[in-house]
Amino acid sequence: MSIRTRFLITFIGSLLVIICSILVIIWFLLFSINGQISSPVQLYKSVTQQKQVTYAEQEALVTFRNIAKENPDDLMNPDLKDQVNDFEEREVDIVIRKENDILYHSPNLVVESLIAHAPEFDTENIYTQGTIDNKGSLYRYLKFDFNFSDNDNGSVMILKKENSFSDFVQRWALIITALILTVAVLIIILFNRSLNQSIILPLRELNKKVQQLKDGELEGKIEIVSGKKGEVNELAREFEKLRGALNRVSKENKAYEENRKELLSNISHDLKTPVTSIIGYVEGLKDGVADTPVKQQQYLNIVYNKARNLNFLIDDLFVFSKLDLHKIPFEFKKIDLVKFLSHFVEEYQLDLEQQNVSLDFKNIRVKEADVYIDIQQIRRVLDNIIQNSVKHMNKSEKRIIIETEKKINEISVTVHDNGAGMDLENIDVIFDRFYRVESSRNSDYGGSGLGLAIARQIILEHDGSIRAESVRGEGTSITFTLPLKENRQS
Ligand SMILES: Nc1ncnc2c1ncn2[C@@H]1O[C@H](COP(=O)(O)OP(=O)(O)O)[C@@H](O)[C@H]1O
Ligand SMILES: [Mg+2]
Repeated sequence: MSIRTRFLITFIGSLLVIICSILVIIWFLLFSINGQISSPVQLYKSVTQQKQVTYAEQEALVTFRNIAKENPDDLMNPDLKDQVNDFEEREVDIVIRKENDILYHSPNLVVESLIAHAPEFDTENIYTQGTIDNKGSLYRYLKFDFNFSDNDNGSVMILKKENSFSDFVQRWALIITALILTVAVLIIILFNRSLNQSIILPLRELNKKVQQLKDGELEGKIEIVSGKKGEVNELAREFEKLRGALNRVSKENKAYEENRKELLSNISHDLKTPVTSIIGYVEGLKDGVADTPVKQQQYLNIVYNKARNLNFLIDDLFVFSKLDLHKIPFEFKKIDLVKFLSHFVEEYQLDLEQQNVSLDFKNIRVKEADVYIDIQQIRRVLDNIIQNSVKHMNKSEKRIIIETEKKINEISVTVHDNGAGMDLENIDVIFDRFYRVESSRNSDYGGSGLGLAIARQIILEHDGSIRAESVRGEGTSITFTLPLKENRQS
């Protein structure tokens, strides 16, 4: 059943309930007044009866009763007509009957109905008044029974049409009914229209949108149709939220898919290039292109280095993909970062000394900074950054300085170098996977382009951030932050 029909039924139903309740209340009222439960006809009579007998009726009764008493046969005399007309002009009707014949009746009355509803003869004249029906109209009567000279029963009846209410109803019934019906229809039309505006149309609109959503059309805002409050609009709003969420997820999925495709193509390229080159050199060895032992040694060295780089690349890829899928379990430990960095630098210094690079930890203001970190992973971050610096050193005095700065909620660690630096409009691209500044992907530097992408993933897992600053020819600074937390929830 549609909402519209349901509402219509409810509407008509409540109308009926109201009408019935009003009737029942009237019934009860009458009962409490009259002490009896009236039938609908009695109810009608009690509503329509006129209580007062008019002077004209009284006068007519007295006049015709006297004639009936003194000279009953005079009632059959046509000369009586004038007197009768007199009363008829005063809206009193006269009936004279002899046994079952109606000798005279006022023109308003219908004779068949009179015969059918005529009261019993009562020569004692005990029941002298009552109400009779004449062709659908109610009449109140006063009656006097007597005997004609031939001993036939006779009655003279003075009739008065019951109160004007029934008249009124008769005259206006059609118009009133039509009016009530018109008003009811109008109300229903108005009701229907408001129902349409506030419920049916918005629901239809919503339905259309749902169909569109089903077909994968996630764009196109769902308008709040009538702009008012109410359940339907609330539903539309919630639906709009749902559409937004679906749209977001769908876009994320699409971006993820794009990402995946790009990653795959990068990986294939980065694996393919060294492998092709290795095959080339090995073929050179096999075919005897490298014909001297020195040349052969050279070829072997190249193949070895390429294979080693390939191995590093695969290692990085492995780490990166595991980080990307959040498959590396992080073991956060509370640690004093200042102490940790001091130890780290001490260890690393020995390594770098051999490459003629100085490494210093400049820690002036920060005495202590408790952080929750996975030591292994933060070491990896520092290692990746420092190795980049070492790779891009181009001065005779090679310097790397690590510096810390404490803020309210976080501590930042910066690795400065005095290397080649970069000339990039948007330097943050260096944190994108497979990004390398050197145009030749397989340059002498031989990096995977994943080192900083891995570093970023690790720092993000620590709820920190990472950024870079660089001046071409002067050097580069990579800064990452770590939150200073009392507790770590993960
Ligand atoms: N300290 C640095 N000095 C100059 N260039 C750098 C430095 N660190 C990173 N880069 C540039 O950023 C790129 C991305 O670094 P990274 O992700 O570690 O990849 P990779 O080291 O394998 O090339 C490098 O290829 C390099 O061009
Ligand atoms: Mg690197």
